[in-house]
Amino acid sequence: MAKIISGTELSAVMRAEIGAEAQAFGAETGVRPGLAVVLVGNDPASQVYVRMKGKACREVGFHSEEIVLPEDTPEEELLGVIDGLNAHPEIHGLLVQLPLPPQIDPQNVILRIDPAKDVDGFHPINVGRLASGDRDVLAPATPAGIIELLVRNGYDPSGKRVVVVGRSNIVGKPVALLLLRDARGGNATVTVAHSRTRDLGSVTREADILVAAAGRPKLITRDMVKPGVVVIDVGTNRVADPTRERGWRLVGDVDFEGVAEVAEAITPVPGGVGPMTITMLLRNTLEAARRIEGAGARASR
Ligand code: GUN
Repeated sequence: MAKIISGTELSAVMRAEIGAEAQAFGAETGVRPGLAVVLVGNDPASQVYVRMKGKACREVGFHSEEIVLPEDTPEEELLGVIDGLNAHPEIHGLLVQLPLPPQIDPQNVILRIDPAKDVDGFHPINVGRLASGDRDVLAPATPAGIIELLVRNGYDPSGKRVVVVGRSNIVGKPVALLLLRDARGGNATVTVAHSRTRDLGSVTREADILVAAAGRPKLITRDMVKPGVVVIDVGTNRVADPTRERGWRLVGDVDFEGVAEVAEAITPVPGGVGPMTITMLLRNTLEAARRIEGAGARASR
């Protein structure tokens, strides 16, 4: 049976580290890191994420603002809210929860966020820096969490064959760039597979480390992996489950029971990658605060 790579456990360790670092930073500078999360509309999953982000901030002693706008908010109005947060001295990190209602173009929203406060790492400036191999860039949170899960559990990707299944801008593409980078948690030989990949199993069987981020429940089955593989399951698929009061349960992109019989290690769903995303968002917010306050202090001397 595979070892379980717990994001819940690593998150608790890292959030304690972040809380202690934030306290030391506050003692030194008098500044509390601040994160603003903007939600447009009332998508239930997004509401849960936004609430969890606010709670996580308070637990590590950050300042937190949640801004909720109605579903029919015009794009110009959202852009105005972003301008205000870009200029807000107590806000160091800012993100707009995706997906957005159809009248709003997400690319315009991302372009408006000050790259120094872009704790999602979605601004083209930050995407470009990551692609150029910059070691100091604010990297997208879920991909950065995947790297921490691997490195801190003793599965350094350096020199390994890593197959990423999925090519989204939020997970697949940025995690491939982090794995490729000449930096801690990088230096892997990376293959990116996706929905048009022919004979997916022949590709995934090559993997020493497999990152499943396709958004398809139980896509990866036991016959598609090599014995001894390390599996990171990024899937968060809601499937109907009449035995649960709420009527659904969360399943990953990996058939856990089958794959866990042959893998060296595997992340569960829930309790794997999920908790790491918010943890890395906190880390990015602290990092953004350090840089902004450092730059501000230099400018005012
Ligand atoms: N929606 C799903 N994942 C994310 C994320 O990482 N950031 C934002 N802003 N929205 C999301």
